[in-house]
Amino acid sequence: MTSESDPQRREVLHSIACLSGAALSLPHAAMATTDSTSTRRYKPSLLVGDLGDPILASSIPVGEPWVFSYPFKGTPAFLIRLPQPVAPTPLKTAKGQAYQSHSGVGPSNTLVAYSAICAHKMMYPTPAISFIGFRPGIRDEPSQVIHCCGDDSRYDPTKGARVLAGPAEQPLASILLRWDPKTDTLHAVGTAGGEMFNAFFEKYALKLVLDNVAQAQDLCDRTTRAKPLSAYSRQLQTCRA
Ligand code: FES
Repeated sequence: MTSESDPQRREVLHSIACLSGAALSLPHAAMATTDSTSTRRYKPSLLVGDLGDPILASSIPVGEPWVFSYPFKGTPAFLIRLPQPVAPTPLKTAKGQAYQSHSGVGPSNTLVAYSAICAHKMMYPTPAISFIGFRPGIRDEPSQVIHCCGDDSRYDPTKGARVLAGPAEQPLASILLRWDPKTDTLHAVGTAGGEMFNAFFEKYALKLVLDNVAQAQDLCDRTTRAKPLSAYSRQLQTCRA
């Protein structure tokens, strides 16, 4: 049985207090600079595998999203290869702010990235389970969509993760990738659209601590780990639709 005199428990409580306080005081948008295309630039971070080797853009298969953290250590994002090149899409946030999603990058302009934090009630992939993932499209949807089982919000990965169905009031935030054609490597460098990072940290401060997500509110370092969603989450929740 633990008590507040238990050093481990004290440390966790201290971390929770720090995170909660930071969540209320840190204006995350102030950590980025916004350019003329409404893209907020954060510190660039190279996508790497478990051993620290750079992920090669041409090695990402069509059909399964990969997960990496960006722009903060505790904010997951999807890296997705689509079957066709991706053009920017004009979109609006829930507050009516216009922006453009990012075009695809990589050898055939088919790689895109989006925040994996659902724009409805912010469900997100964790190491234990993911309620948000890639599912087959239905009716006139694209062949695969990003679907959050929480309340069935569906997003179109070919059009800036715009909302196809469900209660989400805005697209998933777009993550800007930079591809180096000489090395085939990928950096995440910014975001566009409706970020929800402040609200995310306020809602999940305790959970992030309990999940051992170290320094969740720190900006990513020069590298950020990426892995397939099926390796990132032990259980992929099946949706009804
Ligand atoms: S949290 Fe994703 S649809 Fe409600």
